[in-house]
Amino acid sequence: MPLRFLTAGDSHGDALVGIIEGLPAGIPIPIRDIQRDLKRRRKTYGRSGRQRIETDPVEIVSGMWRGRTTGAPVGIRILNLGKAPGGKRGGAPGTVPRPGHADLAGCLKYGLDDIQPIAERASARSTAMRVAIGAVAKGVLKRFSVEILSHVRSIGDIDADPDTSSLDRLMSRVARSQLYCADAAAERKMIGLIKTAWKEGHTLGGSIEVIASGVPPGLGSHAHWDRKLDARLAGALMSIQTVKAVEIGAGLETYKKRGIESQDAIVLYRGKIKRPTNYAGGIEGGISNGENIVIRSYAKPIATAPKQAPTIDMSTLESRESPYVRSDVCVIPALGVIAEAVVAWELLCAILEKFGGDHIEETQANFIAYVKSIGKRTKR
Ligand SMILES: Cc1cc2nc3c(=O)[nH]c(=O)nc-3n(C[C@H](O)[C@H](O)[C@H](O)COP(=O)(O)O)c2cc1C
Repeated sequence: MPLRFLTAGDSHGDALVGIIEGLPAGIPIPIRDIQRDLKRRRKTYGRSGRQRIETDPVEIVSGMWRGRTTGAPVGIRILNLGKAPGGKRGGAPGTVPRPGHADLAGCLKYGLDDIQPIAERASARSTAMRVAIGAVAKGVLKRFSVEILSHVRSIGDIDADPDTSSLDRLMSRVARSQLYCADAAAERKMIGLIKTAWKEGHTLGGSIEVIASGVPPGLGSHAHWDRKLDARLAGALMSIQTVKAVEIGAGLETYKKRGIESQDAIVLYRGKIKRPTNYAGGIEGGISNGENIVIRSYAKPIATAPKQAPTIDMSTLESRESPYVRSDVCVIPALGVIAEAVVAWELLCAILEKFGGDHIEETQANFIAYVKSIGKRTKR
């Protein structure tokens, strides 16, 4: 049975709940790492006042014994401090669906006259749990020397042009940036743009890039469509609210080029296979090829703003203004943290599929044997 997770919880309910099933035994889960990523998701420039209310108190409620996983399902709970008294249930029904949200389609699909249950569950509050689960995955991936980072590529029409030649340098720039952007000049312009959006009552989209380093060759498979690593990563990123496009490696740049300009040559250098370029973004034929996995996602501007598209009242069918509640202006830096989490999860699934093991030491022993076998194949 593959590694899997489930989440439950509403935006303003008591708590978010997550269950991870299929983690090997013997893994410590440092709560501090989960808290760190939850804070990174929350504390970014451009978000609403709610992020000052939510401190994301997180608790592991099952699946651990003396600080390590046991092989049983790991239960995680994050309290919602911004919950409405008694939840939102019981108030006047919401009958005015917001364009750009799940409200209308959700009510039609589930036969509801009240948009609140749809809005509560569709909300990106749920991404806090995905970040927590991703932090667990990141901790396990470190044992296989896989590291995951993200940075903001663009906000609105401002593009960053960071130096990505050293991942350590990139990360230290990102760590100093309010927007997790490694290009300081672009960041200053982005902050100006967000301030203007706030004043003028609109919102901003943008794009982020996730880089996974240390990924061994051989994760995913060419053999069947649903085992392809690129497809699985793209699906996971597309499942994040607001994401409207995903690009792997040179992605959109390649479709206008000639074949030879968009393939990565294979060369042998001092007994090791090298790829002088990485247009493929670390995945060929649905299988990781040992280079860094580079994947970007593009998000629309969020829908809720003082200036919004018009709508109708579902109960009277009359035209209405969209209801406005104070909300985020720009969620792109937070999107980077969420994207890291979902990429980490997919890579961990692929690692456990390939190396198996009920105890993490068994998984690691299989991994080491495989890495050695690859090493032998490049020696004459
Ligand atoms: C971190 C994050 C925070 C968000 N905050 C808001 C918000 O405050 N207001 C809003 O209208 N949409 C917000 N969204 C976007 C909506 O959740 C999303 O657009 C909506 O559920 C419809 O889904 P779709 O954009 O994927 O089609 C946020 C998205 C993310 C990733």
